[in-house]
Amino acid sequence: MLFDTHTHLNAKEFEEDLDEVLSRASDAGVSYMMVIGFDQETNRRAIEIASKYPNIYASVGFHPTIAHEVNDEDFVLLEQQLKHSQVVAVGECGLDLHWHKDTLDQQIEVFNHQIALSKKYDKPLVIHMRDVTEKMYETLKPYQQLSGIMHAFPSSPEMAERFIELGLHISLGGPVTFKNAKTPKEVAQKVDVSKLLIETDSPFLSPHPFRGKRNEPAKVRLVAEEIAKLKEMSLEELATTTTRNALTLFRIKE
Ligand code: NI
Repeated sequence: MLFDTHTHLNAKEFEEDLDEVLSRASDAGVSYMMVIGFDQETNRRAIEIASKYPNIYASVGFHPTIAHEVNDEDFVLLEQQLKHSQVVAVGECGLDLHWHKDTLDQQIEVFNHQIALSKKYDKPLVIHMRDVTEKMYETLKPYQQLSGIMHAFPSSPEMAERFIELGLHISLGGPVTFKNAKTPKEVAQKVDVSKLLIETDSPFLSPHPFRGKRNEPAKVRLVAEEIAKLKEMSLEELATTTTRNALTLFRIKE
């Protein structure tokens, strides 16, 4: 029983063969998937996929790399989508100073708006953070009792603990399997399993030995195997615990 908590099955890379991708996921023991939207078109498609297939859910939001294009009407539509029964989270949202250094003010505004929606609709955040750890912490800290996921967590075990203190979970993906990825492996070892989730971020971030190829939810098993090894627990225990964590966080009934 595995839960891929971050997949972009709504991306154009899966247009041609979604049914085969889903059947490989099922063969690999992936019971649940969260399809993550990042702009208006992928939010719509995430809901479409989640409405069609059992045990697939949707998250809708605006990615920081498009923050400068998001307007009030986009937020009106997003708020309607958040009322959909298959939509269980807000995001992908956050901050990114890797691709867009010059739009930080707009990114913070659009992110704060989505944090407010997460609170209003009582749905957890799916947070993207790239090259912006301190500013992210500073932005989140004033909020009380946050609920959500630091997705593909790119920082240290010490920072992971600080985000956990704000109420957040830590999610790890393909990079934890890379041989020279010292920091994600340390995060996997040190973060308590009760705060851990697993993901693929497919079609991106393929785990070893598929690095550079298109990723897909079936490969979340390789992420789980590596974390189980690092934590010296059985794959089954790691899989069951991280799946329960996700079901509880997203309030999905088994
Ligand atoms: Ni993503």
